[in-house]
Amino acid sequence: MNEYVVEMKGIVKNFGQVQAVKDGEFTLKKGEIHSLIGENGAGKSTMMKLLYGMYPIDGGEITVKGETMGTITPKTAIEHGIGMVHQEFMLVNELTVLENIILGFEPKKGLTIDFEKARNEVERYIQQYDMAVQLDKKVSQISVGEAQRVEIIKTLMRGADIIILDEPTAVLTPQEARRLFEILNNLKQDGKSLVFISHKLNEVMEISDRISVMRQGMYMGTVDKEETSPLDLTKRMIGREVFLNIDKAHSQVGSTVLEVKDVWIPSQKETSKIRGMSFSVREGEIVGVAGIDGNGQSELVEAITGLRRVEKGSVILNGKDITNQTPRKVRESGLAHIPDDRNTRGLNRAMTIEENLIAVRLDQPPFTRGVLLNKKEQDSYAQQMVEQFDIRPADYHLPTSSLSGGNAQKVVVAREVSMNRKLLVASQPTRGVDIGAIELIRNTLEKAKKEGAAVLLISAELEEIISLSDRIIVIHEGKITGEMMAEEANENNLGLLMMGGTEAGKEEAV
Ligand SMILES: Nc1ncnc2c1ncn2[C@@H]1O[C@H](COP(=O)(O)OP(=O)(O)OP(=O)(O)O)[C@@H](O)[C@H]1O
Ligand SMILES: [Mg+2]
Repeated sequence: MNEYVVEMKGIVKNFGQVQAVKDGEFTLKKGEIHSLIGENGAGKSTMMKLLYGMYPIDGGEITVKGETMGTITPKTAIEHGIGMVHQEFMLVNELTVLENIILGFEPKKGLTIDFEKARNEVERYIQQYDMAVQLDKKVSQISVGEAQRVEIIKTLMRGADIIILDEPTAVLTPQEARRLFEILNNLKQDGKSLVFISHKLNEVMEISDRISVMRQGMYMGTVDKEETSPLDLTKRMIGREVFLNIDKAHSQVGSTVLEVKDVWIPSQKETSKIRGMSFSVREGEIVGVAGIDGNGQSELVEAITGLRRVEKGSVILNGKDITNQTPRKVRESGLAHIPDDRNTRGLNRAMTIEENLIAVRLDQPPFTRGVLLNKKEQDSYAQQMVEQFDIRPADYHLPTSSLSGGNAQKVVVAREVSMNRKLLVASQPTRGVDIGAIELIRNTLEKAKKEGAAVLLISAELEEIISLSDRIIVIHEGKITGEMMAEEANENNLGLLMMGGTEAGKEEAV
């Protein structure tokens, strides 16, 4: 018998003019964790969507458990035991966890869904693989990590023994990622075969048995984990070394741009209510906000950007009170914002790259001439942005819905940092982007600062906070538990403050 449960050979996939996969290859052994890595747009998601039958292949051959597959559809993929947890979750917020898990099962005519039976089965998986979920909570009330566990359970309920996880850790805190890895190892012990897509090479080195690399739609080879290193993998992915260490310039810090004064912000979740927070950000400095996701970061950002009401206290931007102003008013006062959720807030997916790049400044010269839009200026601006930010494919007439995850993020970053702004609020700016793009985006933030912008950086990556920020504030349950200059910060002292600065936190923080 063949040692592979999946064999993909000579795979070709085109989307119109775009050759997403030119010569793809991938093999999966039973009971292994196989990572698939490569730059944004390399074709990783597409390869796995082809295996899951979301699009037909244009060439090549896919064999699953010894059977050469004709046209794969999600239905036949599921019948062959293939399950996929997508880059963007597909859960219905207003339904409960259990309802979401059951959704999609079609009960035979005349029969109703047997909720009790389903519940028992789900509970068995929860126990077996140690992946706690609260079955009767609405999806809108659970954390991202929990939503992901729900997605995994969904695949198991459909009988999957080949599970594809597309950048599962991009949205997780380091703590949640640890937990996911335990689950993945439990699944592997049980003989499941897993595909893991990630840009985080330290994770890849930790979890994988084998690692395959793609570059520009081409298969670049497979290595055993033991034979490689992060440096080696980077070279295989992009053909050069990458330097993530920012040459931090201490530029001239100027006057205060953002002032948050004893602000109280309500929230549905107890831990994320902001209870009296004060800080400021000045021209020419980057202030990093460190904290475990769900401790008020989103609420704080939403309040500053006009998306959430402040109960008490005030927010001053450029000397102007912007407390509880509309997002539009706040923008007019000099805010640029890279939101953490690029799909719902960052981009209009139906519009082209160009339209998205220009959306926030259509009413400003040089893009308007009287009432007529200046098409030529728009085109040359879009061209320049696409080049500068290495957005691929470089055709700015494409809708952003056709972009890979990381390239969509680059469009948002390009648009926001290029605005004429006093304050730049950057939430998870490098989430889901490849190592080359991380370098680019970090340098861009550093440049904005040098040009005099005040930058508020929210990131789940402590390493990112430490290397980019001048000053760091740490928050826990909606309060500031510490503030320090970046030189004094390390993962340990920040981690401790992130846990609330208690002794009990100390153990977990290491
Ligand atoms: N539905 C689609 N329509 C048109 N083009 C697409 C579509 N899906 C993907 N592409 C293009 O195919 C190429 C590969 O995209 P894919 O999403 O597979 O990349 P990826 O390796 O997963 O990148 P990332 O790390 O950014 O998620 C990209 O150029 C992308 O723009
Ligand atoms: Mg992808």
